[in-house]
Amino acid sequence: MGSGGWFAYAPRSGVAAAGVAGDGRTPDGDLRPELADVGRLLRRGVRGVVGVARAGEVPTLTSILLEHLGPGVDALDVVEEAWAGYEHVNVQAGLDAWLAASGAQVEVVGIVGFQHRPFGLGDLLTGVHGHDPFGPRPGNVARTNLPSGPDGAVRACVRCGLYLLDDGTSRSVVLLRGAEPETGIDQVTVQVVSTGDGLAAHTAAQVREAALRENVFRGQVLSFGGEMFGRGRTVLAFHRRPELAADQLVLPSTTLAAVERQVVGVAAHKERLLAARQHLKRGLLLYGPPGVGKTHTVRYLTASLTGTTVIQLTGNALHLIGEACSVARALQPSMVVVEDVDLIAEDRGMHPGHHPLLFQLLNEMDGLAEDADVIFVLTTNRADLLEPALAARPGRVDQAIALDLPDEHGRRALFELYRGGLEVEPGAADDAVARSEGVTASFLKELLRRAALVAGDRLPRVSRSDVDEALEELLDTRNAMTRVLLGGTPHPDGDAADPDQP
Ligand SMILES: Nc1ncnc2c1ncn2[C@@H]1O[C@H](COP(=O)(O)OP(=O)(O)O)[C@@H](O)[C@H]1O
Ligand SMILES: [Mg+2]
Repeated sequence: MGSGGWFAYAPRSGVAAAGVAGDGRTPDGDLRPELADVGRLLRRGVRGVVGVARAGEVPTLTSILLEHLGPGVDALDVVEEAWAGYEHVNVQAGLDAWLAASGAQVEVVGIVGFQHRPFGLGDLLTGVHGHDPFGPRPGNVARTNLPSGPDGAVRACVRCGLYLLDDGTSRSVVLLRGAEPETGIDQVTVQVVSTGDGLAAHTAAQVREAALRENVFRGQVLSFGGEMFGRGRTVLAFHRRPELAADQLVLPSTTLAAVERQVVGVAAHKERLLAARQHLKRGLLLYGPPGVGKTHTVRYLTASLTGTTVIQLTGNALHLIGEACSVARALQPSMVVVEDVDLIAEDRGMHPGHHPLLFQLLNEMDGLAEDADVIFVLTTNRADLLEPALAARPGRVDQAIALDLPDEHGRRALFELYRGGLEVEPGAADDAVARSEGVTASFLKELLRRAALVAGDRLPRVSRSDVDEALEELLDTRNAMTRVLLGGTPHPDGDAADPDQP
């Protein structure tokens, strides 16, 4: 689609479409695309008559607006609502829903030549761009597909377009414009003008409400990254919610209970806690050496909290904490996840131990209302680095939970978990558990995978000696790494044989 200069939105039949000249061409002279339904053909006929009547006259955005609104436009207020650029998809969803429910006749007029030109409805009404041949003018509706859900779901969003509305009593115009960071326009805006008394402000407010109601981020798992593809652009991605059952997370029962109480327990007892004037907002710090399951625990929480909006701040995105918190606040219940917070926090520090972004994070946490159903989960391998910063801002993180290297019981459970469908010779697990003191959970996962590789074409059977050989290999790697890292001094937390964290 899209070679026609006009696009009839037309949620109901009998809507007048505009701007197609009698010869089937748009006022720009573009060929009209095939029209799918009879209703549209009829509308084309209606407008065709108008087109013939005005043959020779090329409509401008200004003439279209003036024709639609009638006389006296200079007295009308233009009311604007603005959102952060990444909200474009929600604004479109809200606007579409609101238009469909409004009962008004709607027609969309595409705008071309809008790039690199900041302008608003006020400019269009006064015709300042009217004689600029490259300036904004009626044309194709420019749309962009924006992510609207996991698995590549997108919604086509208007980059810049006019919606002409007629509800039978009043006529209104809505200008929707997406962000254009390259032009320095970092917000998505909706501007409304209406012949109805106070209707512009009312419409703008209703679109804002609808954008929140229809928000496609709600209940989703999102990640926020920044500035990877251009300055000022927030990269937002949807992720499929992971599936992780409780038996896939091996933690001492007291540790798991503590995590669950803070996160899931508070959600479950929300009403009673609020009634007793206890706060819902909570901060959790998971700390421990690499490979013990901090990320895995976050995954488990994300899986358990179906319906909760999860916002992960990734990479160099901690400066987007303000935006992440505003999404979290709007879409409660929600969980904000900042993984490896020490790395990000240190990132922009002027001096070692100085964490401006971490302070900003803690301040944002503090700024949320106490009764906000928002969970903050921070993870770190280096609690020692964060301790001074956290101590200086008490009360933001309610609970710090240590995830440790698995004990004998844990190693056995991990061996069993990652055995999967392998038929492991009896006794192999006992050997491995006994000989793997001080390794991480991810070490055991890798051990089973290596043992399976050693077994090769004897799979799914794995012998005791296969496991032994794999263990030798891995312990060897670990020792080598440990030697490098610690100059030969064995260190209980120094095991670096984490395949996931080189
Ligand atoms: N406690 C655990 N229970 C089950 N599997 C684990 C556990 N800890 C780690 N793993 C496995 O090891 C992988 C790496 O662990 P990860 O959670 O990334 O460690 P961390 O974030 O603490 O560095 C996980 O994807 C998971 O497969
Ligand atoms: Mg991790």
